[in-house]
Amino acid sequence: MTEPILRLENLRKNFGALVVTDHVDLALHSGELHAVIGPNGAGKTTLLHQISGLLRSDSGRIWLAGEDVSHAPMHERVRRGLARTFQITSVLPGFSALENVALAVQARSGSSFRFFGNASREEELNHPALACLEEVGLAARAHVPAGLMSHGEKRQLELAIALATKPGVLLLDEPLAGTGREESEQVVATLRRLKARMTILLIEHDMDAVFALADRVSVLVYGRMIATGSPEQVRANSEVRAAYLGEEAA
Ligand SMILES: Nc1ncnc2c1ncn2[C@@H]1O[C@H](COP(=O)(O)OP(=O)(O)OP(=O)(O)O)[C@@H](O)[C@H]1O
Ligand SMILES: [Mg+2]
Repeated sequence: MTEPILRLENLRKNFGALVVTDHVDLALHSGELHAVIGPNGAGKTTLLHQISGLLRSDSGRIWLAGEDVSHAPMHERVRRGLARTFQITSVLPGFSALENVALAVQARSGSSFRFFGNASREEELNHPALACLEEVGLAARAHVPAGLMSHGEKRQLELAIALATKPGVLLLDEPLAGTGREESEQVVATLRRLKARMTILLIEHDMDAVFALADRVSVLVYGRMIATGSPEQVRANSEVRAAYLGEEAA
């Protein structure tokens, strides 16, 4: 079997006496959409922070494309192909959708030139930024200030911002949180398109979306991965049902 594109080995994080992630192992294979589900407070966001480098792990290792990035700073992990979105919406409301993505393109390019004021350089940023907006179905809304967009559009915009770094592995923290039915269908459609060409680790509470999208599912409960398998295997797992899914998964 080929080396996983992302591998977590024995990861652990405490906040004081509270053990939030506890000896977490996970192997993400290239091209799969792998969902992590679990009850509120299970440690899912903390785990994503550990993978992205926002939080330092207390112990354990993280391998990205065969390289040990356990101690690498966040920007180094981004350079190696990791991108993420946040559970809480985090776009710049006063900037247009295009400007929000263009700023992320600029960050990727590492250039020091000013964002505004030079037409040809702006075009260098806007062209790839518009391509990212197209991927999430927001091209027609490129010039709308992010603050005026619907919640669902903002979540799509966050995906476009994450795409600006051309990631190989995308970490998504509840991209459907707070979206209505129609909006969530649009986000699911976007994720279905994206999963064809990148590896995705998806944290999500919306089980319909998880079971529609995921190739594999892992279940985190009180910091421990209690199961990993196909959606069908996880749905049928009695420990998972008792701990989390309940009868609604029947
Ligand atoms: N910076 C912090 N300091 C102290 N405790 C924290 C911190 N961040 C998270 N926690 C605690 O760690 C536990 C796991 O939180 P985390 O946000 O990772 O859970 P989660 O699985 O993402 O939950 P949710 O589904 O509600 O988003 C919770 O008990 C939370 O209160
Ligand atoms: Mg969370």
